[in-house]
Amino acid sequence: MAANPSVAAVPVAADLLSDTLTKPTPAMREAMAVAPVGDDVFGEDPTVRELERRVASLLGHEDGLFTPSGTMANQLGLRLSVAPGEELVCDALAHVARAEMGAAAVFSGITSRTWSSPRGLLRAADPLSLMVTGGGAYQVRTALVVVENTHNFGGGTVQPLEEIRAVRAGTRDVGVAMHLDGARLWNAHVATGVPFADYGREFDTVSVCLSKGLGAPVGSVLVGSAEAMGRARLWRKRYGGGMRQVGILAAAGLHALDHHVERLAEDHARARRLAVGAAAAAPGSVDPATVETNIVILDVGVAGWSAPAFVDGAAAQGVRLYAVGPRAVRLVWHLDVDDAATDVAVDVVTTLLREGPAA
Ligand SMILES: Cc1ncc(COP(=O)(O)O)c(C=O)c1O
Repeated sequence: MAANPSVAAVPVAADLLSDTLTKPTPAMREAMAVAPVGDDVFGEDPTVRELERRVASLLGHEDGLFTPSGTMANQLGLRLSVAPGEELVCDALAHVARAEMGAAAVFSGITSRTWSSPRGLLRAADPLSLMVTGGGAYQVRTALVVVENTHNFGGGTVQPLEEIRAVRAGTRDVGVAMHLDGARLWNAHVATGVPFADYGREFDTVSVCLSKGLGAPVGSVLVGSAEAMGRARLWRKRYGGGMRQVGILAAAGLHALDHHVERLAEDHARARRLAVGAAAAAPGSVDPATVETNIVILDVGVAGWSAPAFVDGAAAQGVRLYAVGPRAVRLVWHLDVDDAATDVAVDVVTTLLREGPAA
């Protein structure tokens, strides 16, 4: 990962690259080993059905569909609501816009337009003023608004429920659907106490990931109406995402729902601790008040660093980070980063920020 091979040889003391890195715990592996299974393409895996129904009900929807990845869950959700030649609108930092390899265009013939917003924070006026609802023979019709909660590249931003509701109010009567990329909706719930269904009910489809902060090795769930999930099931098969005795993976997700949701508060506290340290070491690198969940995005440029050089400097001391822009570095807390690892990260990051790059 690091440019300098000697850097890669340093043992990792704090791995803040991503919350997708987590290894299944012994208890999770045990739950996977004993899970009842069946052929899920025939709808006969009881553990998968239990997971799908449980997540759907948690989010206030009729049914769910287990998918191998968050990207597939998102892409199924998008294509359910947008016909080829129609558009979706989302913010410019959204995962569906930046990190799904153009899948909406490639697979579904969907065009995208974006609005810009600091930290990816949703302001209802942004999507509402961008939408083209009349369509006709000249302008592309807006069919879908996508909201990401929490917002990954925005820095774990929690979307305000009142803004979501205002978008819903402005889209419902003009035939524009809403999809929630809820890969980290668990973090939003833990940060705010807002019930999952209060978020979920505002959307036509919602995707959630089990393989991020929740610590499962694989898997996401798309939820929506029973009719929509029936259509999504066909498309999942077409995409090659129909899996067989996959209850062993769904069991990891069920275990995570039982044991790994409330503990996300620990990740949030650790992320905030680093942000407070970074802000003291290099004012302007981050505003700790904006660190609501498990992600911190640092502007290392204020201390004279480029993001890749900062990432290499941290890796040389055993702290793995991710450059998400020329001067933006992302740090993500998860199940496998404890207080001791956070201490190391705070020490390394604050020292680098304070000292700046070697002249
Ligand atoms: C906000 C968001 N949505 C969707 C995804 C896609 O998940 P996956 O990597 O499982 O395809 C990610 C992955 O990091 C994400 O951060």
